[in-house]
Formats: sequence, C-alpha cells, structure tokens
Amino acid sequence: MKVLITGGAGFIGSNFTEYMLKKYKNYRLTVFDAMTYASNPETINKFRKNKNFKFIKGDICDFKAVMNAVKGQDMIVHFAAESHVDRSISGPEAFIETNVKGTFNMLEAARLCGVKKFLHISTDEVYGSIKKGKSKEGDILDPTSPYSSSKASADLIALSYYKTFGLPVVITRSSNNFGPYQHPEKFMPLFITRAIECEQLPLYGDGKNVRNWIYVEDNCSGLDIVLHKGKNGEIYNVGGDVEEPNIKVAKCIVDALSRDMGLIKFVKDRLAHDRRYALNSSKLKKLGWKPKYKFEAAIGLTIQWYANNDKWWMGLKGKKFSKYYRSNYGKK
Ligand SMILES: NC(=O)c1ccc[n+]([C@@H]2O[C@H](COP(=O)([O-])OP(=O)(O)OC[C@H]3O[C@@H](n4cnc5c(N)ncnc54)[C@H](O)[C@@H]3O)[C@@H](O)[C@H]2O)c1
Repeated sequence: MKVLITGGAGFIGSNFTEYMLKKYKNYRLTVFDAMTYASNPETINKFRKNKNFKFIKGDICDFKAVMNAVKGQDMIVHFAAESHVDRSISGPEAFIETNVKGTFNMLEAARLCGVKKFLHISTDEVYGSIKKGKSKEGDILDPTSPYSSSKASADLIALSYYKTFGLPVVITRSSNNFGPYQHPEKFMPLFITRAIECEQLPLYGDGKNVRNWIYVEDNCSGLDIVLHKGKNGEIYNVGGDVEEPNIKVAKCIVDALSRDMGLIKFVKDRLAHDRRYALNSSKLKKLGWKPKYKFEAAIGLTIQWYANNDKWWMGLKGKKFSKYYRSNYGKK
C-alpha cells in the first residue's frame, strides 16, 4: 500500500508517520510537506533511514507538484494546513490559500489519479463554541476564526468530491492534541518550554476556556481506524475523554516542573475566543477505537519529552518567534 501524507513534517502528521511506519511494515509512506515555519527538519530526519519512507518537499498550493506526488498513490492522509488560530487573526489570507485552495488541489489530484482513499484531517473547531453537551458529526458548522472557517470550507469541498465524483473521502475532526513535536507557539508546548526556562506564561482572558484534550498517539490510532474501516462520505469525531480549562492545564505544568504559580500571567483575550469545545466520539468508538492514555499520565510524558528535547524546540524559538510572541502577548 502506498500512502501519501501531506504535512507529515508537522506535529500530528509526523506522529502519524511514526505510528504507521511502526505498525505497517509493508506500507510505503511518502511525506509531502512545504517545510513552513511550523515544521522542523529534525522531526522527519529520524525516518530517513527507513526504506519505506520517502520525503518530497512541495507545496499543496502548487497543483503540478501535487499531481506529481499523488500519481501512483493508493491513499492520501491530508494534514497539511496553516494551523494556528492566532496567526489566522493577524494574517488570514494564507489560511484561505493553504487550507481551502490547497485542499481543493489535493482532492482534484486524487480524483484525476483515482486514489482509493482520501482521509481529510479536520478539527472540532468547525462546530464553534458550545455551551453544553458534546458536538456530533451531524451538527451545524458554526466556526468562529478564519482558521476554523477555512477548515470548515475544506470539509465541505471534500464532501462535495464524495457526493459529486464518488471520491472515497473520509473526514476526522479531532479535539486539541498534545504530545511530542508540537511547535512551541501552541498553548501546551509554549507553556511547557517557557516554564522550563522560568519565563512568564501568558494566559488568555480569565483562563477558563475549556478544551477537550487528546494525546496525539490516541488521535493517530483513531486516524488509522478511520483510514482502514471508515465509511466513505462519513465524518468521525476523535475526542479525548477529558475536558479541562486552560488555567488548570497551566497549573498542572507549573506544578510538574516545580515552578512558581506567579509565572502565570493573565493577558488580553484572543479576539472571538471560543469558550468551549467538546466532542461526542461514539461513532468512532463503534468502529473499535478506544483512547489509551489518561490525561495526567500523558501530560507527564509530554512535559518529559520537551524537557529531554530542548534542542528540538530551541531552534524554533529564534528572532522571528520572539517578534511573533511580542505581537501577541506584549513584552517578554
Ligand atoms: N494540533 C491540533 O490540536 C489539531 C486539532 C484538530 C485538527 N488539527 C488539524 O490537523 C492537521 C495538522 O495539524 P498540526 O497541529 O500537526 O499542524 P502543524 O502546523 O504542526 O503542521 C502543519 C504541517 O503542514 C505543513 N504545511 C503547511 N502549509 C503547507 C503547504 N502549503 N503545503 C505543504 N505543506 C504545508 C507545514 O510545513 C507543517 O509541517 C491540520 O489540518 C489541523 O487543522 C490539529
């Protein structure tokens, strides 16, 4: 089986590539990634010695490059995206370009090349903020940010390719992932890496925004099931069992690293910050999925990974990152 993984040098894509290389020894995996600021060459260097792994540097917005990569592939797992909500507020255009036009290019190439499965990776953010209950796959889409709106748009285009052309599309919408290889601009690695360095932890608003956390390996096992057993044209939520407010996650990190709670600093809230996401994942559980990791244990593993791999994340925190950080959270 030949599988093309877009965005495989990013956070979830690289964890998924690792998961698949370990589990399916006879699959041939090709990562197609533009290596934007969100990627790190070190993340995929470890795969290079595996004879079943190939890397192509390419942009999903470049249709010719996409066609060359898609030719001869059996399945596509499409992670590549601009993924940071804050950046979609300060610069939305790249999100429309990559997440909407780029996804269209992937679908169109898959259709022309007769790909047998197209797994499109989406997010719980497309449902928007919900006060109570849990979002189900049939719920209306009510995205808030340019990021979540671009992802919702891509979901609809992907479904249209199933309905109109019969392209075998399946979609997953996962909740907030955490684990190794996540860029330090994102909430959990930002707080872990800054707490390691005894720097202030900028917490948006009152810190009571609730997220449904999932350890990245549990998401990968869900994606594996959907890729192999998911019904074409269907959407599957992949949510962790735990809902926690950001303030609790922040305190947990400070506590685990034996730092002072005074490091937590409340900062001006993100524009239109969604209050709560929660997913009902019973549809995927019916296919046999069961998350393996408990939140407390998984956050411990995650903190340990960043503590042991400072070379990986320090390289990503250069001058450009400091500029980005100041523009979002004020001075250091
Ligand atoms: N991180 C989460 O908690 C989460 C939750 C739900 C869904 N998702 C979705 O999962 C997918 C992966 O998220 P992530 O957190 O791993 O993102 P990430 O930002 O860590 O990685 C994205 C990867 O895509 C690549 N990329 C970006 N633009 C590209 C382009 N034009 N062409 C080719 N490659 C390009 C980047 O270089 C990077 O390697 C995204 O589609 C995201 O919307 C993420």
